[in-house]
Amino acid sequence: MKTNIKAFVFDVYGTLFDVHSVVERCNQLFPGKGEKISKTWREKQLEYANLREIMGNYETFFSITKDSLRYAVTKHGEELSESSEDTLIIEYLRLTVYEEVKEVLRKLEHKQLAVFSNGSHDMLDPLIDQSILHNTFNQVISVDEIKVFKPAPGAYDYAAKKLKVKPEEVLFMSSNGWDISGAKNYGFHTAWINRKELPVEGLNLIPDKTYKDLSGILEWID
Ligand code: LAC
Repeated sequence: MKTNIKAFVFDVYGTLFDVHSVVERCNQLFPGKGEKISKTWREKQLEYANLREIMGNYETFFSITKDSLRYAVTKHGEELSESSEDTLIIEYLRLTVYEEVKEVLRKLEHKQLAVFSNGSHDMLDPLIDQSILHNTFNQVISVDEIKVFKPAPGAYDYAAKKLKVKPEEVLFMSSNGWDISGAKNYGFHTAWINRKELPVEGLNLIPDKTYKDLSGILEWID
């Protein structure tokens, strides 16, 4: 595939790292409720970021992650002690990297690689630095630098400007349908990493390509 991609830009949570790798720890703390708590935790984390964006009431994604964890545990009839919260938040800084990611990024190492995440640096930096992906990216870009969450167009615009590339020179990858829709809406080339084999979002913003995991993006290398 002939393209003029000058920057490969990756979403983080759900795309490179498995947010549900916390389920085991959740089950240890709340037996039998790990999956439900993890699902509600992620749903509320994204919902709160969207609501705060619409309300103009910004908080960091790290603080939203803690707020949504507290909600999820309470919703499923449990109490979250300070030590259990600390345990689960530490787990969130050590999420599992999806199996194919390291090898795919190795094949792209001669390209400009960046992550662009709603995550704030106080959670993104330790997550990446203590993982097998440390020293992989030319840039780690957080929306916290401008306090505008994806999928607002201004967020993607900031990332393009920081990378000093035009929108059409970016291939953006995310497993999150809402994020890929936002990137397409802004003007990036988009590769949806559809890990859960979901239908395309009903937003009339069709991803340029859809793959079941990250290995599909190798066809974008000239
Ligand atoms: C990210 C989450 C929201 O931006 O997917 O990394």
